[in-house]
Amino acid sequence: MTTFPDGFLWGAATAAYQIEGAVAEDGRGPSIWDTFTHTPGAVLRGDTGDVACDHYHRWPADLDLLSELGVGAYRFSVAWPRIVPAGSGQINAAGLDFYDRLTDGLLERGIDPMVTLYHWDLPQALQDRGGWANRDTASYFADYVRVVHERLGDRVPYWLTLNEPYCSAFVGHLDGTHAPGLRDQRVAVTALHHLLLAHGKAVTALRADGVTGQVGISCNLTSVLPASDDPADLAASRRLDLHENRMFLNPLFFGAYPPDAAAQYGELSFVRDGDLELISAPLDYFGINYYEAHHVRADPVHGWQRVPPANPTATGIGVNPRGLRDVLERVYFDYTSLPLVVTETGLALHDYVAPDGGIDDHERIAFFEAHVRAAHDAMSAGVPLIGFFPWSFMDNFEWASGYGVRYGLYYVDYLTQQRLPKDSAHWYASVIKANGLTGDS
Ligand code: FCB
Repeated sequence: MTTFPDGFLWGAATAAYQIEGAVAEDGRGPSIWDTFTHTPGAVLRGDTGDVACDHYHRWPADLDLLSELGVGAYRFSVAWPRIVPAGSGQINAAGLDFYDRLTDGLLERGIDPMVTLYHWDLPQALQDRGGWANRDTASYFADYVRVVHERLGDRVPYWLTLNEPYCSAFVGHLDGTHAPGLRDQRVAVTALHHLLLAHGKAVTALRADGVTGQVGISCNLTSVLPASDDPADLAASRRLDLHENRMFLNPLFFGAYPPDAAAQYGELSFVRDGDLELISAPLDYFGINYYEAHHVRADPVHGWQRVPPANPTATGIGVNPRGLRDVLERVYFDYTSLPLVVTETGLALHDYVAPDGGIDDHERIAFFEAHVRAAHDAMSAGVPLIGFFPWSFMDNFEWASGYGVRYGLYYVDYLTQQRLPKDSAHWYASVIKANGLTGDS
């Protein structure tokens, strides 16, 4: 039996664009993901979030499923283009009304809302003015955050400013596989800084407005290890660690970019006086999304090469629960004693409904069990972990993979919009009930 402390927060996570659909309803403006998904070739099979899980209309029944699971908290994101359709300026009351109802619906069911304020759906109108490469976007974000807080602040115990600034900056502006689909390192690192600045400005605005909920941010972090002790591999792994971890952790917790950043990206000339004080404004908790560990080899062209995993999953990444423990311990021992939350971890599969109606996803159960255990091991080593949120509550639009992979505890039949519990949903409900892992598997 692996038991967790009383009050441990077992949750489940989603994000607006991935589940809501209703992209042109009730005054929502277009976001960069609407543009990107409607760009031929950008997303697998041309899938879009136009309908997704139709959660915008089906939210009451979805919240009932969360009750069935027994979660103590639900992490969802607010779509900026529903609240401020053009990114700045006019506010859309209908958008606020939707999240107001959702928040009340959760509270009525005894579930704590954990609100992500930015999960990648930048209003397209701001992208047209340079997006995250434009410093003004950071201030517009803080303005929007104030509006959401004014409406929901009396009822939200957990706020997250950004989800995964790594993906927004580097996957969106360097790899080009996420919106806005750019491939330019200079633009990417500028966007990264403005994202962190947006976070800092939002934290400061929330404090100024008397926020009573806990304020944090979710970063996706990786465990990075050299493939050998060859000095070239060691140097490569240090560079990848800079790119995936230290470019986020150091400014947030030390108020400075790492000393090796300029060698990698060029002078960070977009940093202005006072920015890093804002970026490192004190937080109440820190969210970690963990999916990947990387073994790294030197590569003369790209500086590093991630060694392909021995047993890739449906998205090509490996499974490495030990990496979650390593990441949690690193953040605690090297960066901060703040309470930590695993705000995402999960496994992509090609789930299907068997003739008897069951959905056997024992690989996902094994994945979560191993990651829950790794989280518990980190706690035994002293890490102040207070919550664990599987990605995802239900199958949804998985960005560049469209509907081609599934991450949910609940299966979504996209033709009928029926939701069905997978075996992992039953398993997770029993973990929540027992407040830990029963059995010795
Ligand atoms: C993370 C995202 C989340 C989801 C999972 C699988 O990078 O935050 O929206 O797509 O990956």
